[in-house]
Amino acid sequence: MQISAVSKEVNEWSGSVLIVGVLEGTLESQLNLFKTSTKETYLSQRFNDAKFEGKKNQKLSIEFIEGKIKKVVFVGLGKAENLLIDDLRKAASIGTRQVSGFERRLGIFFPWDAFNPSSAAFAVGEAVRLTSLKDLRFKSQQTESSSIEEVELLGLDVKTAELSIAEINPICEGVKFARELVSAPPNHLTPSQLAKEAKNIATKYDLDLKILDKQDCLDEGMGAYLAVAKGSDLEPNFIHLKYSPKNIKNKVVLIGKGLTFDSGGYNLKVGASQIEKMKYDMGGSASVLGAARAIGELKPSNIEVHFIVAACENMINGSALHPGDVIKASNGKTIEVNNTDAEGRLTLADALVYACKLQPNAIVDLATLTGACVIALGDEIAGLWTDNDQLSEELTRAADTAGEGIWRMPMQDSYKSGLKSSIADLQNTGPRPGGSITAALFLKEFVNSNIPWAHIDIAGTCWTEKDRDITPKGATGYGVRTLVNWIKELSFKSN
Ligand code: BES
Ligand code: MN
Ligand code: ZN
Repeated sequence: MQISAVSKEVNEWSGSVLIVGVLEGTLESQLNLFKTSTKETYLSQRFNDAKFEGKKNQKLSIEFIEGKIKKVVFVGLGKAENLLIDDLRKAASIGTRQVSGFERRLGIFFPWDAFNPSSAAFAVGEAVRLTSLKDLRFKSQQTESSSIEEVELLGLDVKTAELSIAEINPICEGVKFARELVSAPPNHLTPSQLAKEAKNIATKYDLDLKILDKQDCLDEGMGAYLAVAKGSDLEPNFIHLKYSPKNIKNKVVLIGKGLTFDSGGYNLKVGASQIEKMKYDMGGSASVLGAARAIGELKPSNIEVHFIVAACENMINGSALHPGDVIKASNGKTIEVNNTDAEGRLTLADALVYACKLQPNAIVDLATLTGACVIALGDEIAGLWTDNDQLSEELTRAADTAGEGIWRMPMQDSYKSGLKSSIADLQNTGPRPGGSITAALFLKEFVNSNIPWAHIDIAGTCWTEKDRDITPKGATGYGVRTLVNWIKELSFKSN
């Protein structure tokens, strides 16, 4: 898909579909825009019939029988004074969904004036791209009925817009990659396959890659991670990718939970616990590898970025964890596993200890960690835990810019009592109330307190059951754009 800004006016443009963003109270000027292609009375009649007033989320498609444009999709943007960049994103995706069957050349004409042309071009371009992604890899017929080949943003300052348009492709490819990793079924995307995917990225973008096998992890003393992995016939793969430019002024580690399937283990997922969905329990690793894909291509300066995934499956066999087992993590802490379904935090524990040894300036982990977080925040907002106010602000800003929902949650230290074990240093689960908080507190036990660290629970946001704005039903790729924005900002700041 080719995206560009063009200085053409609406009446000079020709193509298949034109999406027009309409502010409330500006219908007159819409009639004016199209007076050369259709009768004014026809258009105003259609607006009337459809009660189209330009209210937010309203849409009206009109097909022209002759002329340079086949179809115009009017999308309401609401009142001018309330207009946000996210409204442009949403309107672009509403418009894009009306395009199917008309393929090829899409034009977009929005009231751009309120925005920086570069940010507006980026937001709208990525919205079209991300809305129209389809995963047909597992269909026997992979042909698409239609596709958008060219997108032209009309009436936008070409020079400024071009600055950001170049970044749309690398970032959207990162999101696409993440979505495809998440939607790949667990018999395809195994821990070793995830390692292969990391290898592909390393080769393509010249990143350093280290894969620790089971023996390497034993040598590291990763007893928590390996305890989860040993219930599966598939070997664990500890993935460590590194992006390292010439002048390094800042170093960060991104960690993603990488359970390619979570059956729950002997605390088997039963009833409504949706075991059949648990291929997406590697959503954190998908975000992190998607970010690696984008960073590898964007090549930000001054910042070294490590991408870490302790990949494995949570399964049941004769050597699987027993509920009640006591294991030892690589920082020497002993853990009583009072629930084998709280496996993610066990894998992350050793990943966090490993990350701290790299002595970074910050660590961020993303994980589909708790059902409790889904109950608290739903599927549009991820939970953010950190003791570090600055890191919290940076990540919140990065997510806001991306239009990805995030909300800081309390690191309530007193709840740590819920993790007391009578036999080991701690147990892996606490009481049900506040379950996502105790999960974060558990992780904190494996992080050096002098390294700024944040944990993002994406159990709700990594998947959507219905088309929602720029994310089609299924894997969302949540987190890639937030992480990339954050890295870009750190790179910019240390310039
Ligand atoms: N992968 C799940 C969390 C999850 C649940 C993600 C629902 C997406 C949707 C995690 O490993 C898990 O099973 N957590 C348990 C923890 C509990 C045993 C303390 C949970 O949330 O039920
Ligand atoms: Mn689990
Ligand atoms: Zn899990």
